[in-house]
Amino acid sequence: MELLKNKIREEGLVLSDAVLKVDSFLNHQVDPDLMKEIGKEFAEKFAAEKVTKILTLESSGISPALMTALELHVSVIFARKRKSLTLNDNVYVANVRSFTKGETNEVTVSKSFINKEDRVLIIDDFLANGQAAEGLIHIIEQAGAALAGVGIVIEKSFQPGGKELRDRGIRVESLARIQALENGKVQFLEEAFQ
Ligand code: G4P
Ligand code: NA
Ligand code: NA
Repeated sequence: MELLKNKIREEGLVLSDAVLKVDSFLNHQVDPDLMKEIGKEFAEKFAAEKVTKILTLESSGISPALMTALELHVSVIFARKRKSLTLNDNVYVANVRSFTKGETNEVTVSKSFINKEDRVLIIDDFLANGQAAEGLIHIIEQAGAALAGVGIVIEKSFQPGGKELRDRGIRVESLARIQALENGKVQFLEEAFQ
């Protein structure tokens, strides 16, 4: 998605060979016009998948997930990272290990919102090692629902998450795929390989 790639070129900060900072439009401040286009793009890509729910993980996944949900006219559910007082035992639970932060978090989704009739589309901001996506897939499996696919705003293709999901036959659509972050520069995967 050229609009997104240009935004990354203009505003992305390469913090290291592994980490891209995009706080000005995705992870802290949010650009609603860009997010609207992102929602349209995901909605087009997954138009034929009969999606009934969108599942994401708080907090940065919510903006692209909501804009996609608006286009597809389905509800969006964000898995919670913290135990909520108003969430009882009636929840699906998955463990999400973060390589970046070196910790494991429980993520939860109320059993009220996903059931075996659902076809669930996962949307998230970043795909790196794939632990967040794996956790969300585990929740969808617990619900007996079908996985319609995974939509990612920025995939770091030099990390293994994307390949592992695709190798399992899961449809992964990433709007920008980064091949390398070297010498402070973002190198995108060639369009031909996207
Ligand atoms: P994984 O899910 O693919 O295994 O990712 P990992 O554990 O490595 O990432 C943990 C957090 O860092 C996630 O956000 C993920 O979206 C984010 N992340 C991973 N790589 C990058 C990167 O290069 N740049 C940025 N900006 N974020 C990255 P989170 O902890 O769930 O936080 P939130 O932003 O959703 O609240
Ligand atoms: Na995220
Ligand atoms: Na994030």
